[in-house]
Amino acid sequence: MEQYIITGGHELHGSIPISGAKNAALGILPATLLCSGVCRIENLPQISDVRNMLDILASMGVRIRYLNKNAVEIDTTHTQNVPTPYEMVRKLRASYYLIGALLGRFGKAEVALPGGCDFGFRPIDQHIKGFEALGATVQITEGGIVQVEAKDGLVGASIYLDVVSVGATMNIMLAAALIKGQTVIENAAREPHIVDLANFLNTMGADITGAGTDVIKVRGVEQLHGCTYSIIPDQIEAGTYLALAAATGGAVTVTGVIPKHLESITAKLSEMGAEIEEGDDTVTVRRDSSVRMRRINLKTQPYPGFPTDMQPQFGVLMSMAEGTSILTEGIYDNRYRYVNELRRMGAEATVDGRIAVFEGVEKLNAAPVHAPDLRAGAALIMAALCAEGTTVIDEIHYIERGYEDIVRKLKSVGAEIRLVEIPDGAALERAN
Ligand code: EPZ
Repeated sequence: MEQYIITGGHELHGSIPISGAKNAALGILPATLLCSGVCRIENLPQISDVRNMLDILASMGVRIRYLNKNAVEIDTTHTQNVPTPYEMVRKLRASYYLIGALLGRFGKAEVALPGGCDFGFRPIDQHIKGFEALGATVQITEGGIVQVEAKDGLVGASIYLDVVSVGATMNIMLAAALIKGQTVIENAAREPHIVDLANFLNTMGADITGAGTDVIKVRGVEQLHGCTYSIIPDQIEAGTYLALAAATGGAVTVTGVIPKHLESITAKLSEMGAEIEEGDDTVTVRRDSSVRMRRINLKTQPYPGFPTDMQPQFGVLMSMAEGTSILTEGIYDNRYRYVNELRRMGAEATVDGRIAVFEGVEKLNAAPVHAPDLRAGAALIMAALCAEGTTVIDEIHYIERGYEDIVRKLKSVGAEIRLVEIPDGAALERAN
């Protein structure tokens, strides 16, 4: 098993290049199935979720050729619409995009129910509502396989999403791109990765307007073609490193970003006392570590609100801010599993359903902790880099799902972090 060994307690200084957006890539890669041709995808983050998605595509006869560590050529000419490998699909929440893409291209799909980080119940009822509105029948077998088929073909429809869902918005766009007629998605999600998927589909020859607003119109086209496309920078990776700079103090610049995507995050960092400087494609956060951060209240909401994927990182900031901060999770039922780990490090916090209350402490203390999921794992790295002493973080495979080269990037700004491999037995010993 792998662990991070982190020694914290000092400021960080320097700049970090930001990789391509994980949640855009995980929609764009399956979208290549909608054409029979060759797509070249650039600025692809080198992370395990992307590698897993590419493995799933390859299992369907798709030919993958890495041009470099961040660019692939995807040839979908010989795609076979075969049931996707259960265990590969279970690893990935985003595997449900295969349903929309295969339904759009072949009129049917058979994909295992998705996996992904555990924040409580994560249904796909809105995805199913969309597929059924487009004329497909949907069944979920006892083995947890989603079987979708449009026996009489797909038809354009108007679909109102009962909840603002990133996944359902993207999945319906995928299924609708080749349907004759018009499909309208109302109450659509507006995240930057929704816009990126729509732009990619349009580069393939689709006719999608309104992405980034809550009404998206998809006018079906006869066919789509291969293309070259570069993925947008990752809003959450950038936001995580900016929050880290505010936590440790110092001055860190994230480069190759779209500052507008970071507005809700930098606004809250500024409210806590950090200094923000924006360039064309950079954002810098400065903070004097001798002055404590100010308390804030925060609620996570769909874009352009404050992103839920930055919630654990701000829980760490609040645990050290002066005074009492109130954090409300507006998207998921249970995204506070990291708070128990923070308490081991000296945080004073109570959780009641979707609300967490932090009584800020001067300093966190090093302690052995487990990463419960991707963003919580990143938050624990932040806490470890603030704490005096050396912290050991287990279960780091979650973190590797979404942060490319995180050890190298952190070392480049002065963090003391190293990755160690330990025999599983030793890990069990420590746990007991
Ligand atoms: C995407 O998940 C992201 N994952 C998540 O990022 C992110 O937290 C989430 O969007 C919200 O921004 C990927 O893009 C792979 P949703 P998704 O559908 O699509 C409920 C990360 O850290 N809902 O927008 O699954 C759902 O339970 C990950 O990168 C339904 O009720 O999220 C949740 O409460 C974690 N029915 C809310 O909507 C549905 O059919 C938002 O979910 C679908 C969702």
